[in-house]
Amino acid sequence: EETISVKLFSEKIGKPVSEILKKLLLLGMMSTINSQIDFDTATLVAGEFGIELEQKIEKTAEDILIEEAPDTEEQLLKRPPIVTIMGHVDHGKTSLLDKIRQSKVTEGEAGGITQHIGAYQVELNGEKITFIDTPGHEAFTAMRARGAQVTDIAIIVVAADDGIMPQTVEAINHAKSADVPIIVAVNKIDRPNANVQKIMQELTEHDLLPEEWGGQTIVVPVSAKTGEGIEKLLEMILLVAEVQELKANPDRLAKGTIVEAQLDKGRGPVATVLVETGTLRTGDTIIAGTAYGRVRAMVNDLGKTVNEAFPSQPVEVIGFSEVPAAGDILHAAPADKLSKQVAEERKDKQKAEMLKKMSKVSLDDLFNQI
Ligand code: GTP
Ligand code: MG
Repeated sequence: EETISVKLFSEKIGKPVSEILKKLLLLGMMSTINSQIDFDTATLVAGEFGIELEQKIEKTAEDILIEEAPDTEEQLLKRPPIVTIMGHVDHGKTSLLDKIRQSKVTEGEAGGITQHIGAYQVELNGEKITFIDTPGHEAFTAMRARGAQVTDIAIIVVAADDGIMPQTVEAINHAKSADVPIIVAVNKIDRPNANVQKIMQELTEHDLLPEEWGGQTIVVPVSAKTGEGIEKLLEMILLVAEVQELKANPDRLAKGTIVEAQLDKGRGPVATVLVETGTLRTGDTIIAGTAYGRVRAMVNDLGKTVNEAFPSQPVEVIGFSEVPAAGDILHAAPADKLSKQVAEERKDKQKAEMLKKMSKVSLDDLFNQI
């Protein structure tokens, strides 16, 4: 028999979940927001609100897609932290990422370390860490606006021979408003005019009191050129991650975020996906924004073809109908045709909204002309 979750039911009848749970309790049913109720129960509860349910509540494809069973405690397993590197122009974000990767990827394993890759994983003492090259502040903001939680820890890079600059401040504010813990990497300490103390002083002016001075902020002096301090930086990341107790359920359909995407001449739309929860598999039916399809192939950060991608793992996905946008949420769909249906629903919705906007504009124009 068909059922509906309390959450979706609440959305459909426009009554708060808490009220619905109360009514259910009065009917002798202990429920939670994720509980499933059948049509008869739904009819009863709706009646309590004076709402008559004449027919089965129609679920949209989108409803079916996002309606997910809650994870049980046992299903939640430790996952690697996702680290975003941010900071002012030229302070060494990319160099630092390259150096970290070089120092951790064994020779010959990577098909060519120099190749640009937006996200990758390294391992330290058997623990993985996922790094994302700063997607630019705009993209970061866009991702957050869409509810994408793509960062567990922010590394703010500050050049030791320069200081805190406007984009450093922006990065600090982004991390703070996203409530993400900050680790400061004071870079370029190999430079003769490097002054770590001066940077620490400036940090205090932005409410980041270094641990060394009795504060909470971890500050690690590093050099992306010589590699000094990088091991320490990685250790600090794992330390912070340990406290966060990051977990995900690998045993469910994947959900993730599009980190970047482009049209490849030979391969068609290619998207770098960061799996947030679940496991993404070759052959899975997928949807992100209005792009849908089936995972035809996946390539990991070492350029190797893989058939599975686990929580916190970045992977290149081939098989989308069109190029998804950075920040789009990717879902693996429970049913074969569902992703196409959802894409069509979303397109219809977009079209309707555009038409609404257009008609509004023309009306306004009309009034302006009078
Ligand atoms: P954008 O992506 O343009 O914002 O810059 P970025 O922050 O990625 O900086 P990038 O890694 O491109 O480095 C900028 C310049 O600083 C390059 O010329 C690097 O070689 C140099 N550089 C980066 N890190 C270090 C370092 O630790 N020591 C020295 N001496 N130079 C560095
Ligand atoms: Mg860069």
